[in-house]
Amino acid sequence: MFGSPRRHFPVCASTQTLARDWARDPDDPAPHGALVTADFQSAGRGRRGRFWEARSGEAALMSFVLRPAFPSTRFRFLGFAAALAVADALSPFGLAARLKWPNDVLLDGKKAAGLLVEASPKFVIVGIGVNVNQTEFTGAFLTPPTSLKRELGRSVPVDDVVTAVADALEKRQQDNWTAISDGWRTRLAVGATVRRGNENGALVGLNDDGSARVRLAGAGTFADWASVEAQGEAD
Ligand code: BTN
Repeated sequence: MFGSPRRHFPVCASTQTLARDWARDPDDPAPHGALVTADFQSAGRGRRGRFWEARSGEAALMSFVLRPAFPSTRFRFLGFAAALAVADALSPFGLAARLKWPNDVLLDGKKAAGLLVEASPKFVIVGIGVNVNQTEFTGAFLTPPTSLKRELGRSVPVDDVVTAVADALEKRQQDNWTAISDGWRTRLAVGATVRRGNENGALVGLNDDGSARVRLAGAGTFADWASVEAQGEAD
């Protein structure tokens, strides 16, 4: 069952690091589907070297250990599967999420969840942060943030979100790429601003190889952006 065994920490630096250490523990290695959660991270990591910040107890902070049966060259597709799983998980709350390449989850055009996929040859750590009960956000954002509470107008138990995401990820990580990419296209945040390096563009489509079809800002020309930056290193 995904999300079990689970280790929960009131405070930690980053659930990504704890999940990685658990996966590498020779005496008690984390199995496929194991989960590390926290109420608060003092050094939460986002993509592109950014910090991921949330006040204690307001966000669902999760790092799943996956040990896929398929070759590591295909691990990057897990980021797409996980983002789709988050969208699936939010649906029963009455929320219609959209997906922004490579792995952001949007509600009403604003970012409600982000994912960080870190791979090693033997395992993958899928880090997911869902904004659940925040009402205020500080900082500068490429995509303005939101939370479930802001969208629904009511609080949601953080653990309900953790359970829903674990269940949805268990199903989606078994899907093939055709099912994942079809799900993505159904929920694609067409027109959302995407960034690669210093370049900005508008998301137009998702190609069969996982690259994004982008209309470049200013030039009005189109480009295909590969999804390599969706993945970091766990080791
Ligand atoms: C992003 O949008 O930049 C990705 C954010 C990923 C944040 C999650 S929160 C749980 C896990 N632990 C971390 O340090 N990062 C991920």
